[in-house]
Amino acid sequence: MDTQRYHEGGRLTLTICSTKGGVGKTTLAANLAGYFADLGQRVLMIDADIQPTLSSYYTLRHRAVGGLTAFLQGGALSDCLSTTEIGCDLIYSDDPVGRLQDWVLHTPDGRVRLKHRLEGSLPYDITIIDTQGAVGPLQDAAILAADLLLSPIPPEILPAREFARGTIAMLDRLRPMRYVGAPVAPLCGLVYRMDRASEAARIAAELRQESFVPSGGAIRILDTTVPATVAYREAATAGVPIHRYETKRRGPTPSGHAVMTALVRELLPDLPVYEIPAEVSPR
Ligand SMILES: Nc1ncnc2c1ncn2[C@@H]1O[C@H](COP(=O)(O)OP(=O)(O)OP(=O)(O)O)[C@@H](O)[C@H]1O
Ligand SMILES: [Mg+2]
Repeated sequence: MDTQRYHEGGRLTLTICSTKGGVGKTTLAANLAGYFADLGQRVLMIDADIQPTLSSYYTLRHRAVGGLTAFLQGGALSDCLSTTEIGCDLIYSDDPVGRLQDWVLHTPDGRVRLKHRLEGSLPYDITIIDTQGAVGPLQDAAILAADLLLSPIPPEILPAREFARGTIAMLDRLRPMRYVGAPVAPLCGLVYRMDRASEAARIAAELRQESFVPSGGAIRILDTTVPATVAYREAATAGVPIHRYETKRRGPTPSGHAVMTALVRELLPDLPVYEIPAEVSPR
């Protein structure tokens, strides 16, 4: 699977999804958005989770009058686009009681509306969509909008076979949408929040065996793995992307900067690497 080609034409929609909750989706979405923004990419984050965690991850510079509801229902762009202090824009989640799920369900083109709005003339290179860890019409819409899917896989989701079965089922359920012009994108699995680095390679190999062939090549397990460290939580609390927060290795695991650089290089090899500015004091 050549992920770079999904970025051809200068635009990529990346949806972070999982069949489980609490696996690290929002943290990953925010950190990738921050990294891409620091590379000079024009980045849009979309919070498609009822619990608006991504919406408040970074301090807002400007809060638009509306969020995802207005965006999906055809509101003016200027009414939906908020801006953040870290340089990427945001469409926030404004649906605390889940009305949007019903709207997507009962609107004839509901599941492809997000995809079509994003295909319009938006001024972004990369759009990152965060989803809730449960099956629902809004999660379907976020998956169908993607050029590429990315799933964090923490150790508790193992055994590998369980991940593969759940994820293949999630993708297969949406496959018929290709008949209405919305084919399901390939999915990259990212071994995430590993306690023991030595285990990561073995687990990745197991996941690869259980998912690549059984999914017909639709699921690829990345070589990069993300360690479990307190820095990710600290960076979230500080409202700073991990690559800026943890620029130097603190213990046995690679720094946040090294991990994000490896991940982005693997996902989109043509993008440059983020160089740590000299004035940033190493942690
Ligand atoms: N690499 C990491 N190491 C340690 N803790 C992490 C790491 N990444 C995220 N976390 C922590 O794990 C918890 C869950 O992360 P997060 O909220 O990103 O998951 P989620 O998949 O978005 O959850 P939900 O399904 O509830 O939306 C958070 O407390 C977060 O700070
Ligand atoms: Mg989340």
